Amino acid sequence: MKKIHQILFEHSSAVMKNAYSPYSKIKVGAAVITKDGFIFAGCNVENSSYGATICAERVALTKAISEGFSKFKAIGIISNRFDFIPPCGICRQFILELAPDIDVYLFNSKGDFKKFRISKLLPKGFRIGE
Ligand code: THU
Repeated sequence: MKKIHQILFEHSSAVMKNAYSPYSKIKVGAAVITKDGFIFAGCNVENSSYGATICAERVALTKAISEGFSKFKAIGIISNRFDFIPPCGICRQFILELAPDIDVYLFNSKGDFKKFRISKLLPKGFRIGE
């Protein structure tokens, strides 16, 4: 049976190739696995109105949420430009709210990874209702 990091690496690196990033030329792929084993993957999608750009992590998570999945086990992230690309601040905030106990796997191109809890990547993150 495949390990979770292998599954996340395969899906995030496959979807990374679909990145729409004519401005930065940076490709990012993300894959989330739900607690019941479903996988949703997303790439970054840029826009000439730069602020409209959406990161790969948020594409993957919004795909899952839109399909009715809201319990997440792990997310994997990969980039063609950086080894172990750390998620941007907005994505950390986004991930923390939707999946406060998720494991975040940051990959290099070989599939090596560094694993963090989202609460480690965004300590004292903003949350309403606690
Ligand atoms: N990007 C992501 O997809 N995820 C991140 O966490 C960091 C940045 C994308 C957005 C943009 O298309 C490009 O990388 C450069 O910022």
